Amino acid sequence: MPSIHKLQLTTFRNIAQEALELAPGVNLIAGENGSGKSSILEAIYFLGLGRSFRNTQQTPLIQHGMRACSVFGELSDGITLGASRSLDDAPKIRVQGEKAQSSAELAKHLPLQLLNAEAFRLLEGGPKTRRQYIDWGVFHVKHQFHNHWREFQRSLQNRNILLKRRAPEAELAPWTQEFVRHAKEIDGSRSAYLSAFLPFLEQMLARLIQVDELSLRYIRGWNEEEDISLVLEKGLQRDLSFGHTVAGPQRADLKIRVGAENACDILSRGQQKLLVSAMKLAQGAFLAQQSGQQCLYLIDDLPAELDKENRVKVCSLLRELGGQLFLTGTDQDELLEIIRRSNYELQECKLFHVKHGRIKSQDMPALQEPEKNKALYKSST
Ligand SMILES: Nc1ncnc2c1ncn2[C@@H]1O[C@H](COP(=O)(O)OP(=O)(O)OP(=O)(O)O)[C@@H](O)[C@H]1O
Ligand SMILES: [Mg+2]
Repeated sequence: MPSIHKLQLTTFRNIAQEALELAPGVNLIAGENGSGKSSILEAIYFLGLGRSFRNTQQTPLIQHGMRACSVFGELSDGITLGASRSLDDAPKIRVQGEKAQSSAELAKHLPLQLLNAEAFRLLEGGPKTRRQYIDWGVFHVKHQFHNHWREFQRSLQNRNILLKRRAPEAELAPWTQEFVRHAKEIDGSRSAYLSAFLPFLEQMLARLIQVDELSLRYIRGWNEEEDISLVLEKGLQRDLSFGHTVAGPQRADLKIRVGAENACDILSRGQQKLLVSAMKLAQGAFLAQQSGQQCLYLIDDLPAELDKENRVKVCSLLRELGGQLFLTGTDQDELLEIIRRSNYELQECKLFHVKHGRIKSQDMPALQEPEKNKALYKSST
C-alpha cells in the first residue's frame, strides 16, 4: 500500500523549509487559521498531480519573494517523487530522480482524493468538475485511457480551430475521424466504469446519508440513441456557425439529482458534504477493490459543516478503507476526539502542529476520553 513516508517542502506558500516523517495511518495537522495546514495538503496534492488544487495560476504556490518552490516525497515502496515550479524555468516533475514527461506519471504512483471546501463544486460547479471526477476513476483503473484522452483533446482543439476558420470539409475530415475514434473509447470507458462504480457508490452513500430519490446519471455528451459520427455529420452546419464542436465527450456530465432538482439546490450544506465525502471515499475504495492500489485521502477541515456524529461516521469509514489519511483542523482536541471515536489506535497516528508555516511533530496524547485529553493538552502548553 503506497503511502508517503517522507515529505520535504521548500518555499512552498508560507512554508520555508520543512521535512516531515509521516505516519502510514493518520496524520493529524492542527493549527490556527492561516498557519499553513491547507498548504501542507496542497503540497501533497502538488506532488500527486503536478498542479495546485485552486483554479488559479501556479505562481501562488511559490513563496512570496522567492523564485521557485518544490515538494519532494519518498513513498513507502521506495519510489521517490518530486515536483517543482519556478518563475524562470519550465515546471519539473521527477519520478525516481528521472525527469518525467507528464503529471500522469505522478498520479499513477500517488492516487489521491481531496476533500476540502472546493469539493462542493462537484455538486454546484460546472460539468468539467464532474468529468474530472469520472476520469480520475477511469484513469486509475485503465491506464490507456490517458492516451485516448490526450489524443481526443488534440483532435478537438484542431477541429475547433478549423471550424472557426470555416475550413472546407475535406480539411476537417481527418480531425473528425480522430475525434470519433477517441470519443468512442472515452465514452465506452466512462460508461463501463460508471456502471460498475455507481452501485458501489450507492452502498457507501447509504452508510453516510439517507436521501430519498437521490440519483446519479451519466450523460455522455450527445444523443444516447445516435452514433457520434452521425451526430457530427448532421451537426456540421451548427458547429461551423458556433465555431466549435457542440456534441461529444467534452460535454459529458454526471447529473446528481434529488427527484427532478439538482442536488445542490435541495440538500443542506452538511448533507452536501456527506454526499461529496461518500463520492470521494467510494472512488478511493473502488480503486482499491479493482486494482489493489490504495489511495491517499487529504481531508481539509473535516469538522466544518458536519455535526459530531457525522464527523465520526466519515472518519470511521476512512479507517475501514485503510489508505493514508491527512486530517486538518483548527482545534487539536476536536481532531483527537474524532480519531478516538473512530477507533483508531494510538500507534497509527501522528500529530503535527503548524504555526506561522513552521511544522512541529507532537507526541500523540493517549486516545482517551476527551476531558482527560483536554487536561493533558492544557498541562503541556
Ligand atoms: N505564495 C505564498 N507565499 C507566502 N505565504 C502565502 C502564499 N500563499 C498563501 N500564503 C499564506 O500562507 C498562510 C497559510 O495558508 P493556509 O491556507 O495553509 O492556512 P490554513 O492553516 O489552512 O488556514 P485556515 O485554518 O484558515 O484554513 C496564509 O496566511 C496565506 O496567506
Ligand atoms: Mg485551510
